[in-house]
Amino acid sequence: MAEVPTYENVKIERDGATTFVILNRPEKRNAMSPALHVDMCNALDWVSEDDETKVVVVTGAGGHFCAGQDLKLFFRANENDPKAQRKTGDDSQAWRWNKLSRCPKPTIAMVHGYCFGGGFTPVIACDFAIAADDATFGLSEVNWGIIPGGLVAWCVTQIMNYRDALYYCCTGERFSGKEAAAMKFVNKSVPVAELKNAVLELARNLERKNPLTVRYTKEAVRSVRGMDQAQAYDYLDAKILALKQVDPDKGGDKAMKQFLDEKSFKPGLGEYAR
Ligand code: COA
Repeated sequence: MAEVPTYENVKIERDGATTFVILNRPEKRNAMSPALHVDMCNALDWVSEDDETKVVVVTGAGGHFCAGQDLKLFFRANENDPKAQRKTGDDSQAWRWNKLSRCPKPTIAMVHGYCFGGGFTPVIACDFAIAADDATFGLSEVNWGIIPGGLVAWCVTQIMNYRDALYYCCTGERFSGKEAAAMKFVNKSVPVAELKNAVLELARNLERKNPLTVRYTKEAVRSVRGMDQAQAYDYLDAKILALKQVDPDKGGDKAMKQFLDEKSFKPGLGEYAR
């Protein structure tokens, strides 16, 4: 198995075909510094291309997900340096939204402990999110006298119901992992002791699927949200043809043969074509 790269602010750990990308500034509750943003950009580039990784999990070290942007290093240190502000803003955006939401592999946010402010963006950018029941989420920007910028307000409205988005952005009130699951901000929440197993259970399911089918499916679901019905119909038609073309395993044809001719496979019961 190929060695994993090392970074100052990010840790990489493998568990079978699932790779954990871990924000690693536990002493600062994984607050995001400019250097962490650069490391995360590099780590996501690496994991996206790593042949042994089928599923990517994003989480934080030390029992917490992320305390948001590092107020000292991300904001104050760059106050009078517009060029540095722009560079670190771009890096921050690049991994938290662009690279994560376009990752060619399925992504799962594993949220425990604190998740504040800018830490919401990667949770939303991941395809799936599982939280500890007692995780603490907070859009605390309003308590700082700032607005949820850096795309946070936009991300939040992609996934939260409009009333919840306004409520939590304007009050800065915290909500738990259990509450996050009830409002479908995350797929589900579990007791913290079961969190990693719950994440791995989902990951193992995804690992067994045809990787190109999973990739094309998640791209399709994400993309059609911004389309009208006619555009979506055309786009999905083209996407089906594209998948047939690029899939070296010809998964669709194989599954059809197994189901109709060999009668060896029942996809409706959760079996996978091999
Ligand atoms: N930026 C910079 N430093 C941060 C930080 C942030 N967003 N969040 C935590 N830290 C630092 C603290 O300053 C402290 O550093 P120190 O040890 O050098 O004093 C260290 O991380 C631990 O934080 P501390 O507050 O002592 O831990 P705690 O467990 O009691 O509380 C939080 C944790 C996350 C509740 C608290 O630190 C907090 O409210 N942070 C701000 C979160 C936030 O609002 N983020 C959104 C910003 S828009």
